[in-house]
Amino acid sequence: MDKQKQVLILPGDGIGPEVCDEAKKVLIHVNQSHDLNISIEESLVGGKAFEETGKPLPDDTLNAAKKSDAVLLGAVGGPTWDDLDYHLRPERALLGLRAELDLFANLRPAILSKHLSDSSSLKPEKVLNLDLLIIRELTGGIYFGEPRGRSDNKESAFNTMIYSKNEIERIGRVAFEAAQKRNKTLCSVDKANVLEVSVLWREVMTELSKDYPDVELSHMLVDNAAMQLVRDPKQFDVMVTGNLFGDILSDIAAMLTGSIGMLPSASLNSDNTGMYEPVHGSAPDIAGKGLANPIAAILSVAMMLKYSFDAKEASLAIENSIEEVLSEGFRTHDLEGPQDSKLSTSQMGNKIIEKLN
Ligand code: IPM
Ligand code: MG
Repeated sequence: MDKQKQVLILPGDGIGPEVCDEAKKVLIHVNQSHDLNISIEESLVGGKAFEETGKPLPDDTLNAAKKSDAVLLGAVGGPTWDDLDYHLRPERALLGLRAELDLFANLRPAILSKHLSDSSSLKPEKVLNLDLLIIRELTGGIYFGEPRGRSDNKESAFNTMIYSKNEIERIGRVAFEAAQKRNKTLCSVDKANVLEVSVLWREVMTELSKDYPDVELSHMLVDNAAMQLVRDPKQFDVMVTGNLFGDILSDIAAMLTGSIGMLPSASLNSDNTGMYEPVHGSAPDIAGKGLANPIAAILSVAMMLKYSFDAKEASLAIENSIEEVLSEGFRTHDLEGPQDSKLSTSQMGNKIIEKLN
């Protein structure tokens, strides 16, 4: 048996706890069936943490996260906390974890199960077998650039979009390596017709491509990339971009699959220690009703097993059992389908575990 690995679960707010419950059940199951030697802890984050400790990211949580080999985060935020000061808002916990753990590489796959091609807002033939990977730089750019703030008279506000060569290079390497393992094409997205930071981005990516002669690099302006994603998404395989553009493009890509409740994500640092989260938010309107789709959270566990623990078989077993459940017609409430195909959050979790056996 391998050395013990520590997973920290941060359920958070809204539907976070209920989808994490299912993900945890699956993790416990594969931990036993695949002898993974994982131990699990839980901690507070987001609005829930603010209620109990006055901070969205309590020190205990941050320290536990730093000691873990991987973190699974449910979701943070909700209307209760919308009027809080910026530094107390639940979202700060996410940004704090990303910065403190140096999770610079955000992997957001947009994969459409062949059983769900009717769920997309695009015509089925445009998205059939869509399998796209957006790699978003997550700890730099305008999200973290200094200076930032309001002018003294409060009449203006400013942020700084800044990237160093090193920051671009390290996300670039992640992207080129991902492309090498897939279709060997990489599209780098920027706004080099307007922004100096993007001119540098393009220069560094071009320079880097010499180290990856087997990967075909292309560049695209972000406005065009947004359009191309909804016009003909299958032209892309791996895309790499900065923090802000990646935030926007990954939501577009997620929607192409029609079901944001299906998409996992990974945020990795240079040791492949990572934080894994469903792409969906806290969905406070459906929280606690058993209506949430746990598949994104469960696929986040599959990503964790693959990227942080190199447990490819266990990861694949989870993906396969989800495909099997979908092929048999079972759906959660966010997915199209007849009423009698609909499972609650925990019924879906149980069904997936049943297929793992
Ligand atoms: C995301 C979210 C976050 C972001 C918010 C909640 C801070 O939109 O993970 O895409 O902008 O990065
Ligand atoms: Mg976003």
